[in-house]
Amino acid sequence: MNNFEGWNLFPALFCFGDMDITVTIIDREGIEHSLLAPTDMNMNVMELCRSYDLPVKGECGGMAMCATCQCYLESDTELPEQSDAELDMLDQAFFVKANSRLGCQIHITEEIDGIVLRLAPEMD
Ligand code: FES
Repeated sequence: MNNFEGWNLFPALFCFGDMDITVTIIDREGIEHSLLAPTDMNMNVMELCRSYDLPVKGECGGMAMCATCQCYLESDTELPEQSDAELDMLDQAFFVKANSRLGCQIHITEEIDGIVLRLAPEMD
């Protein structure tokens, strides 16, 4: 599946236009979701996933303190260097791989257009 989704969820919130990029999220069942993401709303990937009702908890609200937004970078998209806070959190998280990132620390910008991320398994 590779369809744009979520049009019925937040029609008033997102005014899609020239500032939008595509973010592909592969969920825990292996299904690809191509999401339109606005670059002018100061959002991050965790918030984007939640706005499309994808199963990302984001328990700490994006403070790099819970790792419930962990995902794996599967494209060759260049991301800014990880902060110490992100590295510290991933140090304590489960299912961490070399390409692990915290979704809440990936900001929706033009530079990440086309990024592909796979959701990490849920922690109990
Ligand atoms: S939402 Fe808690 S670390 Fe990302």
